[in-house]
Amino acid sequence: MILQKVNALKGEITVPGDKSISHRAVMFGALAEGTTEITHFLQGADCLSTIGCFRDMGIAIENDPLNNKVMVHGKGLHGLKQASGILNVGNSGTTMRLMSGILSAQTFSTTMTGDDSIQKRPMGRVITPLTMMGADIKSISGNGCAPLEILGRHTPLHGISYHSPVASAQVKSAVLLAGLYGDVPTSVTEPYVSRNHTELMLKMLGADIENQGNTAVIKPEPDLHAEKITVPGDISSAAYFVAAGLIIPGSEILIKNVGINPTRNGIIKVCEMMGADIKIENIRNTDTEAVADILVRHSELTGAEIGGALIPTLIDELPVIAVMACFAKGKTIIKDAAELKVKESNRIDVMVHNLSLMGAKVTATEDGLIIEGGRPLKGAVIDSNLDHRIAMSFAVAALAADDSTEILGAECVNISYPDFYSDLKSLVP
Ligand code: S3P
Repeated sequence: MILQKVNALKGEITVPGDKSISHRAVMFGALAEGTTEITHFLQGADCLSTIGCFRDMGIAIENDPLNNKVMVHGKGLHGLKQASGILNVGNSGTTMRLMSGILSAQTFSTTMTGDDSIQKRPMGRVITPLTMMGADIKSISGNGCAPLEILGRHTPLHGISYHSPVASAQVKSAVLLAGLYGDVPTSVTEPYVSRNHTELMLKMLGADIENQGNTAVIKPEPDLHAEKITVPGDISSAAYFVAAGLIIPGSEILIKNVGINPTRNGIIKVCEMMGADIKIENIRNTDTEAVADILVRHSELTGAEIGGALIPTLIDELPVIAVMACFAKGKTIIKDAAELKVKESNRIDVMVHNLSLMGAKVTATEDGLIIEGGRPLKGAVIDSNLDHRIAMSFAVAALAADDSTEILGAECVNISYPDFYSDLKSLVP
């Protein structure tokens, strides 16, 4: 994919459904009694992997990709069947980690794997707490990564109070989902609050689940019932248009129907810290999640310090925030973000390498990046490392950089935003 500098981006855009919420709607719909109707479902490859895995376990799922509508014919907490082969999660960490929690409690055994990237990502973070709950789950090659083997069991898991060393919604959700099948309640406490879509959706479907500060507590064996679920637009996808609108002179973009759940909206706070002209309009609620329209105009940005409790609320947006920081006056420090190293690629190394190729002054730290902004970027050949968020971040950088930029492996945007490039082009006046 070759992209050139543009003079402005103008217009309105509606981003596809939230990836985290789309995954959960399929998984929890499968565990509920009755038919869950999902609208604005994300047709990204990751969410299609989740659909594939649950179909393999005997759940009937109708997908209408033209209308982004999915019907999940749930069979209740104990209705899954053993798949005939190995479950394949593709590139999706959310699928593998959340399903580990569910599968640890089933009467049947499962083997689960995925692509090259997923086979390098740490699964010890779910294996450890699930083993504490009595699950028989292991990394087959013994390196803490997929493929995973999970043995069936005929007794309930043990409810535990788990203190997670990382703020991770995937870890929290895996333990809470296993907690659905526990003998006593299960709680998870994290260093900072991570996204709470699991808690909100399970509660809507009838689970007894509460958040108290950094702790989530779930009681076992609820009767989950099907509901209609409307998926908000993904703020992580909206972030590329927010950044592009802010850094490309003359731009004005209205991004409609974006989820602004407080555990996800750190990008908006960072834009405000950087002095951006950003307005959150028409705030309303879907079933359980807050949504709004976001209006951005080109702005003179200043550097900011981003760390602590803010990090889990914008973890997937950090690559594009690093791009924004290159166009801001002064220094931006991103810290407390070592989790970036274990995403679809090592996003600290990949961002530093690629931004440097474009002429940015950026250094890697143990837990983040330091960017000296205010230097113009120039086009370069950028390797996405098949990481969708890297490809989209550099597409944004390319539109604001001199000359042309080539993105290698650009098609990986298919993971979370199949129409990304055409949506971006639709805003070129
Ligand atoms: C996700 C949680 C985050 C995020 C990922 C989706 C989820 O991962 O980066 O894209 O849906 O729970 P971690 O839980 O590993 O932080």
